[in-house]
Amino acid sequence: MWKGRFQEETTDLMKRFGESISFDWRLYKHDVRASIAHANGLVRAGILKSEEAATIADGLRQIEQEIAEGAFPFSVDLEDIHMNIEKVLTDRIGPAGAKLHTGRSRNDQVAVDMRLYALDAVDALSIKICALRSSLVGLGQRHPEAVLPGYTHLQRGQPVLLGHHLLAYVEMLSRDHGRLQDARERIDSMPLGSGALAGSTILIDREAVAKELGFSKVSRNSMDAVSDRDFMAEMLFDLALLGTHLSRLSEDVILWVSAEFDFMALSDAHTTGSSLMPQKKNPDAAELTRGKTGRLYGNLMALLTTLKGLPMTYNRDLQEDKERLFDSIDTAEMCLDIFTEMIAQATVKEASMRAAASDPFLLATDLADYLVKQGVPFRQAHEIIGKLTAYSLEERVAFPDMTLEHFQQFSEAFEESVFGVLNLDAALAAREAIGAPSPQRVNDELAHWATKLDLSAP
Ligand code: ARG
Repeated sequence: MWKGRFQEETTDLMKRFGESISFDWRLYKHDVRASIAHANGLVRAGILKSEEAATIADGLRQIEQEIAEGAFPFSVDLEDIHMNIEKVLTDRIGPAGAKLHTGRSRNDQVAVDMRLYALDAVDALSIKICALRSSLVGLGQRHPEAVLPGYTHLQRGQPVLLGHHLLAYVEMLSRDHGRLQDARERIDSMPLGSGALAGSTILIDREAVAKELGFSKVSRNSMDAVSDRDFMAEMLFDLALLGTHLSRLSEDVILWVSAEFDFMALSDAHTTGSSLMPQKKNPDAAELTRGKTGRLYGNLMALLTTLKGLPMTYNRDLQEDKERLFDSIDTAEMCLDIFTEMIAQATVKEASMRAAASDPFLLATDLADYLVKQGVPFRQAHEIIGKLTAYSLEERVAFPDMTLEHFQQFSEAFEESVFGVLNLDAALAAREAIGAPSPQRVNDELAHWATKLDLSAP
């Protein structure tokens, strides 16, 4: 492509070192789309005849189909997807093909391809995030009465409904969804026409090209446009944080399926056995998701590091952006898919959840609240219940087995009504505020999300 200036061939080592076709072939559909729009722009600019643009478009569509079918002759000698397509097109259609690269550089070409690719990825990821949220809501709705301890410091704290616990992840995933939608705003900017860095003397109506490609705006500075990878860094961050959330969910699932918790069982289809220990059933899908979070973080750090010292404008370092973005998109998509399936088929062990939630200490805070309602200042109430807890542990007598006299040794404010507090279901029902886990609230919230996430709903 640049043989004019060169006398020596690139070495094989240099070809292998510099090629990107082994991974950027994935941009072929977007490269074809952008080239057809560019050709139409060249027609409006008076550079191409409409018949030539039609020949180009036909040739490109043919190439697109061959690549889809695995029948395209990719060559490492042609470095990347852009030159592979252009060379084969020109070999096939002749002069019209040789005019396609007018007013364009691979620098604005790769930038537009990556933005088109990123937009499609945002759409696909958004759908998958919705699917996982639906799966979590579905599990909550199938177990409206399941209660389990809520933990802080992995120590039992207060009782919650399973639906409430699952909805916490729905909230996290909703923010992940929102962040990707926000990123879309900045990905949606059309760089074609920026040329290598300084635009072109061939005047193409950039806004018309943008419109044809579905972009709502064009970039405002050619130097920025060819070297801006902010949109990728932003997506990588969004996926890294999604990974954080999926990793936390993984950890909960891994704990829940352990014999120590015994709150959940996964289907055989999402677990593996041990080559040595016949009894094992391991939650590999959750562990792998937790583990793959490392890749998502690594990809973000790799791109930021690649970008940090680059002088203006395009530098070949930027070729390193692709594998990082592709890997994060692939990883996030797979983790979302496997979790959607795994959660949909998981079995909840309501009886052992309830047994754990029936630990009377989970209602210690409710007892303090009871004293507050009896007129005791909270700090004092906290201390009284603290002492009562120590007594319960020492004397091995649980709160519900204590007599009124026991209670009154610690505070005169206790009355017969205290026994009404020591009821798990009543304790949950009392948590009525917005955002709290009363069954009524949780059921409403599950129903809200079920409607919102039903993509087929009007
Ligand atoms: N394969 C290259 C990349 O991914 C395309 C742009 C090449 N531009 C250049 N001036 N060498 O960045």
